[in-house]
Amino acid sequence: MKYFDNKFIWGCATSSYQIEGEAYGNGKGPSIWDDFVRIPGKTVNGEHAEVSCNFYHTYREDIALMAQMGIKAFRFSFSWPRIMPLGYGKINEQGIQFYSDMINCLLEHGIEPYATLYHWDLPLELQTAHNGWLNPKITEYFTEYANVCFRNFGDRVKNWITINEPWVVAILGYGQGAFAPGRVSQTEPYLVGHHELLAHAKAVKYYRDNYQASQQGQIGISLNCDWREPLTNNPEDMEAAERALLFFAGWFADPIWKGDYPEVMRQRIGHKLPSFTPEEKAMLMGSSDFFGLNHYTTMFAANSKNTNSDRNVYGNGGISEDQHVDLSVDPAWETTTMNWAVVPWGFRKLLEWIDKRYNRPTIIITENGMSNNDTVSNGEVNDQPRINFIRSYLEACHEAMQHGADVRGYFAWSLLDNFEWALGYQKQFGLIHVDMKTLVRTPKASAWWYAGVVKNNCID
Ligand code: GAL
Repeated sequence: MKYFDNKFIWGCATSSYQIEGEAYGNGKGPSIWDDFVRIPGKTVNGEHAEVSCNFYHTYREDIALMAQMGIKAFRFSFSWPRIMPLGYGKINEQGIQFYSDMINCLLEHGIEPYATLYHWDLPLELQTAHNGWLNPKITEYFTEYANVCFRNFGDRVKNWITINEPWVVAILGYGQGAFAPGRVSQTEPYLVGHHELLAHAKAVKYYRDNYQASQQGQIGISLNCDWREPLTNNPEDMEAAERALLFFAGWFADPIWKGDYPEVMRQRIGHKLPSFTPEEKAMLMGSSDFFGLNHYTTMFAANSKNTNSDRNVYGNGGISEDQHVDLSVDPAWETTTMNWAVVPWGFRKLLEWIDKRYNRPTIIITENGMSNNDTVSNGEVNDQPRINFIRSYLEACHEAMQHGADVRGYFAWSLLDNFEWALGYQKQFGLIHVDMKTLVRTPKASAWWYAGVVKNNCID
C-alpha cells in the first residue's frame, strides 16, 4: 500500500476542442483547429471535433459520472473563441453562460475546477488577421481574454493554468506543422515560445494585481516534458540528456523559475532565440504558483555525431539540429498505442530533476495517462493495461515524493475518450469510453479502479 496525503488532489483532465463539440453554434467563433481539421491530410481520416463528445450538451451527465467516481477535481479549458469570437472585443454571453453553468454544476457535485485558459484553440481571426503567436501583440490579446475569464469565473475558479504545453504550440504548431496552425519553420518556434512566456507572465501579473487578493486563487502554467535518459554513462551522452531536458521543460521553466533561458540554449541557438528585457525577466521570474507537469514517456538521449541537420525528427526531439541530441528507445520497453514507451522510473527521475533544478517547486501533475485500444464487450471495457500504467506511474510519483518532490495532485488524462488532435479518434485515452457514433458513455475498468484510489487515497 502506498498512501498519499489526504489533501492530495485527484482529478481528471480534458480540453475544450477535444470534448465540447458545438464548434460553430451558440455564438462561438471559429478556432485555428476548426480550420486546420478541414485541410485534407491534416488529421487521420479527415476527422474533426465538430461534435466530438458533445460535452457542451452533456456536461451534466459527465459531471454526475465524475462525481460517482469520487473525482475531486476537474481540469478543463475555456475555448477562447467561444468566449470572444474574434479573440478580442465582443464577448459571447452564451459562452460565458455555458462555462458559468458548467462550473456551478462542478461545485454542486463537490468537484474543484482547474481551468486552463489556452489549450490550443486560438480564435481564427487572431491567426489570419493578426499572425497568431508570432505577433508580439498576442500578449495583450491574451491578457484581455484572461481578464474576461478572471472577472466572470474567478469567484468560483480558484485554480488557473495560463497555457497548456507551450512547447507543443511552438514545435508542433510552428516547427513541424503537425498541429494548427500548421507552419513549418526552424526559427518561428523560438519566437512563438517567447511570446507564450510573455503572454503567460502578463496574464499572471494581471491576475495578481487585480484579482488574487480578493479571489484567493492560484495561477500557474502546464509544461510537457518526457524524461531523457543518457544512452550511456559517457560524459557526452550525460550532457546530451541534460541538454535535451533543458530544450524541453527548461525552455519554459528556466525563465519562470530562474529568470532567463537556459545558457545552453543561448549558446546553441544564438540570435534565433529572442532576449528578455530586464523588466520582462522580472515579470517572468516567479510567475507560476505551481509547476504543472504533463508527462507521458521516456527516451534515451545521446550526443549526436551526425552533422546532417534534418535527420532527427524522431518523437519529441524538438528542433533537433539545435540540440544535437539523438533519441532512441529500448526495443524491450512496452509501448502504448501512441507508440510511447511505458517507463515509470523515467517519471520518478523527471520529478526529482524538476525538484532539484527549480528548488523544490509545488508540482501538480496536470496530465498523465495512456492510449490503449479499448473495446466494449457485454457493456464492459477491460482496460487492464491502463490500470497497470496509472498504477506504475503513481508508484513512481509516490517514490519521488518520498525523496522530497512536493507533488500536490494528479490529473489523469483523460476523463473521456476524445479527439486526439491530428490522430483523430483512433487513440483512446479516456477513463470513460465514448462511442463516437451514439455518444453513449461506458466507464472503463480503469475508471472504477481510479475511483478506488481516490476514495482510499492510496494505491494497492
Ligand atoms: C497532451 C495534450 C492533450 C492530449 C495528450 C495526449 O500533449 O495536452 O491535449 O492530447 O497530450 O496526447
